[in-house]
Amino acid sequence: MATEILTPLAPETHKQAFLPFSAPWFGDEEKNEILKTLDSDWITTGPRTKAFEAKFADYIGTGEAVAVSSCTAALHLALAAIGVSPRDAVITSPLTFAATANVIVHQGAQPIFVDIDPDTYNLDPDKLVTFIQQQCRWDPRNRALWTKKTNKRVRAIIPVHYAGHPCDMDRINACAREFRMTVIEDAAHALGATSRGRKVGRLGDMACFSFYPTKNISTGEGGMLTTQDPELAQRIRVLSLHGISRDAWKRYGQDGSWRYDILDAGFKYNMTDLSAALGIHQLEKLPRFLKRRVEIAEQYPRLLADLPLKLPTALPHTESAWHLYPVQVRSSWVSRDQLIATLRADNIGTSVHFIPLHLMSYYQRRFGYKTGDFPVAESVFNRIVSLPFFPRMTDSDVERVGFAMRKAFVESVAA
Ligand SMILES: Cc1ncc(COP(=O)(O)O)c(C=O)c1O
Repeated sequence: MATEILTPLAPETHKQAFLPFSAPWFGDEEKNEILKTLDSDWITTGPRTKAFEAKFADYIGTGEAVAVSSCTAALHLALAAIGVSPRDAVITSPLTFAATANVIVHQGAQPIFVDIDPDTYNLDPDKLVTFIQQQCRWDPRNRALWTKKTNKRVRAIIPVHYAGHPCDMDRINACAREFRMTVIEDAAHALGATSRGRKVGRLGDMACFSFYPTKNISTGEGGMLTTQDPELAQRIRVLSLHGISRDAWKRYGQDGSWRYDILDAGFKYNMTDLSAALGIHQLEKLPRFLKRRVEIAEQYPRLLADLPLKLPTALPHTESAWHLYPVQVRSSWVSRDQLIATLRADNIGTSVHFIPLHLMSYYQRRFGYKTGDFPVAESVFNRIVSLPFFPRMTDSDVERVGFAMRKAFVESVAA
């Protein structure tokens, strides 16, 4: 590559303050609401959680939204609510955070990974079809799909909208309908994304969102499960608080009663009103946050032009939630790890999303996965790095990253 196209955009400046890979953004609205919540004497699940659920359901356009303590909790509840058990298997992507597959294991089921699309990094529907055709059998007597090797019923699919880009839900849903599988969207990254004009969160049977500090909105820790099915939502509500009978959270209030029943062996996954106090205002700010994410996503390609990188793909019929800005390093002279180290030396934080789960020792030991099983996920992982990307970044922060990236390639050519 000719060195002139790698010329830095601006002269090197003195070392600047650390620029993190991500950071949440709270203002006076959240701070005042937290103070009001403390003064109200009701800090756990209560009126603010209910208000947050109503606003969220309204935003997504689903009948139901259940606020919980994390996206992990939401995913676990989704599987528990449909009764996923040790007789079952659940399909998901290998390029995801541990939570997506760990909850399958928590239900005693087998996690099955299907390799990803090389452009969107989402579960590849072609490979899903191939997996079903080659490694499963359909039993017309019980109208269920079974794995040939382990004889597990394939109960559900968890497509992960990686980095906020929606999966090909039309094809995934068609497959799920044909083989009677439940679709649970892992929408941890994808609050605000749309596919063919419909919001992520209403594209499957259930969807799970995360409000971890790096996510598109944050409640510290927190999550939300959306569904159009009121009965399912009710079951999830009960399971999210020990299996206690309906609205038992009101039992300490003026109109509450001390008597309750346990309907199921549930979990302690409820959201607190302190978290919801943040969530209500964060959700109001979401359109502004998304707009800024789009602006940064438009700024990066100009700054990174001509560098040996593959930038994120945005398919035409989708609006990404632009949660991450992952770039793939395609250079023979700078590795992904060198790039991370160079940026770190410039006080710029990055992250890697994700180390594929089939490379993790637990998944190898327990389920027999090995290196080479999912070549696309592995090749993406070896080259990918997530650049700083959050609404509070200024234009000059974004330029600083672009300049540091350019410099990293130039310096290694010179070295
Ligand atoms: C794809 C994905 N799914 C699920 C989760 C779990 O979210 P939480 O931390 O809210 O439990 C994460 C968290 O980073 C994630 O990236």
